Amino acid sequence: METLSAAKSGTFEIGGDLPVYRLGFGAMRITGEGIWGPPADKKECLAVLRRAVELGINLIDTAESYGPHVSEELIAEALHPYPNGLVIATKGGLDRTGPNEWPVDGRPERLREELEGSLRRLKLERIDLWQLHRIDDKVPEEKLFGAIREFQQEGKVRHIGLSEVTVAQIERARRFFPVVSVQNRYNLADLEWENVLEHCERENIGFIPWFPLATGALAKEGGALTAVARAHRAAPSQIALAWLLHRSPVMLPIPGTSKVKHLEENMAGAGIDLSEEEFESIA
Ligand SMILES: NC(=O)c1ccc[n+]([C@@H]2O[C@H](COP(=O)([O-])OP(=O)(O)OC[C@H]3O[C@@H](n4cnc5c(N)ncnc54)[C@H](OP(=O)(O)O)[C@@H]3O)[C@@H](O)[C@H]2O)c1
Repeated sequence: METLSAAKSGTFEIGGDLPVYRLGFGAMRITGEGIWGPPADKKECLAVLRRAVELGINLIDTAESYGPHVSEELIAEALHPYPNGLVIATKGGLDRTGPNEWPVDGRPERLREELEGSLRRLKLERIDLWQLHRIDDKVPEEKLFGAIREFQQEGKVRHIGLSEVTVAQIERARRFFPVVSVQNRYNLADLEWENVLEHCERENIGFIPWFPLATGALAKEGGALTAVARAHRAAPSQIALAWLLHRSPVMLPIPGTSKVKHLEENMAGAGIDLSEEEFESIA
């Protein structure tokens, strides 16, 4: 069997000083149904986190709102004291009122409360990458971005990222602080944020595509995706990851799972090299 290693996905320097392998891990799925409460199999989820690091993954994405708190707590339980070079990227800006409910809350006092909680749960003095989960339209940008700039000035946050944002919003945020990453939904079945990806490429901002494994109708029998998958003896979702990694050097996919077997399958996708022709044929 081929050796599994995140190193095969290539590297990217977040913010110019945090080198990571481009295939990361999304820790949203190590929670209960509806991303609410504890996972059905906690032991397996702890094993997933440990195996991820063992395979070289050094970018783990989480959020205060996953559980809430459950994902961050499990990361600390599985991995603290953290190995050198492990980047834990968390987020704030969403509340939780129940399973699958995610009201936006960007009030500065709420963001601060979330950040302090993340620091405590993750057992860190500084968050390497803190991401604003959603922009709250009810809070003036001056206040919203100003509060986040303060977190950085206080040394509680090393780098700042945004999520589900337009190019205009990225540029307005950059008047307050450097934006080092953007996390928008992007996958083979949904390329809507192409213009944001292109902007990130030009500006050397890390682009973290969420829901990276989705292939939608492309995975139907007889399509180009299934042909490429067959040629590589791979699953369509593995080709989806290989396609994303091929698409751009700033692409940092964070597939998520609650199962070691799935983690390993996803990691194998990072090792698949697509030819230019295969890449072009898929999407
Ligand atoms: N910024 C945002 O607004 C936002 C929104 C959503 C997600 N995210 C982040 O992005 C990460 C990834 O997004 P996502 O979880 O929505 O999408 P994803 O990683 O593309 O898909 C995860 C789903 O696929 C399943 N899966 C994973 N590997 C598999 C495999 N090899 N075979 C079969 N099924 C597999 C998982 O179930 P099993 O547990 O059964 O494997 C889970 O249901 C999240 O963990 C989170 O960190 C961010």
